[in-house]
Amino acid sequence: MAPKMDSATKFLIFLGKSLFALLETLTFTLIPKPRKNVAGEIILVTGAGSGLGRLLALKFARLRAVLVLWDVNEEGNEETRRMAQDEGATRAYAYTCDCSRKEEVYRLADQVKKEVGDVSILINNAGIVTGRKFLNCPDELMEKSFDVNFKAHLWTYKAFLPAMIANDHGHLVCISSSAGLIGVNGLADYCASKFAAFGFAESIFMELFAQKITGIKTTIVCPFFIKTGMFEGCTTGCPSLLPILEPEYAVRKIVDAILQEKTYLCIPRFIYFMMFLKSILPIKMGLLLAEYMGIFSVMNGFTGKKKNSG
Ligand SMILES: NC(=O)c1ccc[n+]([C@@H]2O[C@H](COP(=O)([O-])OP(=O)(O)OC[C@H]3O[C@@H](n4cnc5c(N)ncnc54)[C@H](O)[C@@H]3O)[C@@H](O)[C@H]2O)c1
Repeated sequence: MAPKMDSATKFLIFLGKSLFALLETLTFTLIPKPRKNVAGEIILVTGAGSGLGRLLALKFARLRAVLVLWDVNEEGNEETRRMAQDEGATRAYAYTCDCSRKEEVYRLADQVKKEVGDVSILINNAGIVTGRKFLNCPDELMEKSFDVNFKAHLWTYKAFLPAMIANDHGHLVCISSSAGLIGVNGLADYCASKFAAFGFAESIFMELFAQKITGIKTTIVCPFFIKTGMFEGCTTGCPSLLPILEPEYAVRKIVDAILQEKTYLCIPRFIYFMMFLKSILPIKMGLLLAEYMGIFSVMNGFTGKKKNSG
């Protein structure tokens, strides 16, 4: 049996490694990390039929990836496939998939493995929002929020993670939300599902780290409102610090984070500071600040996406 390391040695090793990690982070802050090459990688995007999913697919198409596009909206998804092919994707495949249905996810995952190959970058992006206050929200809608925004991530990980582990190569991307970090009134089911998605992705990240699996990266994305129509009618009380984001800007930041293998991405940056304030401010001050910034009224004008708005 190997002799046990004494606590002083253990502490010194910890200190040395921490210093190295800090220096590495500082270096990459000054000189951005080289971007990884995704040409030929098989990238699956859920919710690719519109909004961020479509724009992500098009960005990766320009980087010559092989795209697997899933959406419950067949027409929108097929349109994304055509656009991705035109933009230069090595190959692009569209599958109609309701990600909230476990059996459908597993069946299509098998089909993808046979027809395309092992997915190496999985982007869990499909999402829905009810936009109703908790007591006015029918149970089925709340369940649906969880099924799409969170549980679908369980099934896609179950389907695609084993091959990533076997190849020691892969990237898991979770599109959560700033509403997955901070509770918002009028958005309880959405927030809960996004907190769950965040917690799940972070836990698997830890699980892989603990097992010393280094070839699989994780990126968890937490954006504020983006102009895709999903949160149509919502406002910001503080546009200078919390602007409603342009989809192209959000997607550029997300793709950069994936290519630079960043674990967390909050956009705008002020979200990081809000998290810091949340953990240090007395709750009464936090509430006053939230009130001052108009956080309690962001959902007041919510209308959401109109049907067939793409
Ligand atoms: N728009 C925002 O303000 C905002 C902010 C933070 C996070 N997000 C998250 O970003 C992601 C993308 O949102 P978006 O703004 O592009 O919205 P969007 O409505 O334009 O796109 C969502 C896509 O998911 C698809 N989808 C819905 N249910 C599905 C299901 N059961 N199975 C498969 N596909 C399904 C839709 O058909 C649609 O194409 C979502 O997870 C959303 O929660 C959005």
